[in-house]
Amino acid sequence: MENPFHLSGKLAFITGGASGIGNAIARLFARAGALVTILDVNEEAAVQAAADCGHFAKGVACDVSDESSIARAFAAEGPCNILVNSAGIAHVGTVLNTTPADFDRLYRVNVRGTFLTMQAAIPAMQARGSGVILNLASIAATAGLPDRFAYSMTKGAVLAMTLSVARDLLADGIRVNCISPARVHTPFVDGFVARNYPGKEAETFAKLAAAQPIGRMGVPGEIALLALYLCSDAASFITGCDYPIDGGFFNLR
Ligand SMILES: NC(=O)c1ccc[n+]([C@@H]2O[C@H](COP(=O)([O-])OP(=O)(O)OC[C@H]3O[C@@H](n4cnc5c(N)ncnc54)[C@H](O)[C@@H]3O)[C@@H](O)[C@H]2O)c1
Repeated sequence: MENPFHLSGKLAFITGGASGIGNAIARLFARAGALVTILDVNEEAAVQAAADCGHFAKGVACDVSDESSIARAFAAEGPCNILVNSAGIAHVGTVLNTTPADFDRLYRVNVRGTFLTMQAAIPAMQARGSGVILNLASIAATAGLPDRFAYSMTKGAVLAMTLSVARDLLADGIRVNCISPARVHTPFVDGFVARNYPGKEAETFAKLAAAQPIGRMGVPGEIALLALYLCSDAASFITGCDYPIDGGFFNLR
């Protein structure tokens, strides 16, 4: 029987694919037969990640918060069949101690970046009458997490954009979904623990792991498997959905 999750013949753009969840998605999609292009602000890491993927994957410099950078990358790489928006940045703070500059910085990458890459990818998908977009939201989109004001704002927006775009593109044969992971162990987590809880890294890490009822953080490969399903033709009946992948966070607390 043919593998129902294959991506042969698909050109897949993965933003933020140089690290963490995006990187696991890029590797798995390449193994599933996709021609993968990693778009990341860290060009060196993108090129290295693409080399690690093999299967003719490419690594391209792209700052998703900058429309000219996106226009350059999309013009050079051609129309994609699949767009995965995994580029994102973290922030720790409440409404009171978040600075306007940090609020704008988070917004520019996580919200504006997702908007701009969707806007760049969609016209060619419409012309073809097919396409898949998958955005990385978070449990922060729908749960009140402590100390995650600006980050939660961005992920709520990613969820809302996903639903809005899915609705508007129904007639174009373009499926649009998002994934909401709980804590996943990536450089993103290690980075913000080191930055925001210096001297308390091990304790904070244990607390973050225990926040998932299953007793641990997720690993990027687990998120990649859900992404593969949602971006493959096996999920042809799925659009306008947000998928929690959360170690029991929502239902078992
Ligand atoms: N790790 C988690 O616990 C977790 C949980 C829920 C949601 N998410 C979301 O998943 C996504 C990936 O997270 P991760 O943990 O893999 O992060 P990560 O830090 O490991 O990787 C993020 C990648 O995005 C790239 N990036 C950052 N700013 C960019 C920009 N302006 N343009 C292009 N690329 C840029 C970085 O260079 C990096 O390669 C993010 O959107 C994050 O919010 C993560």
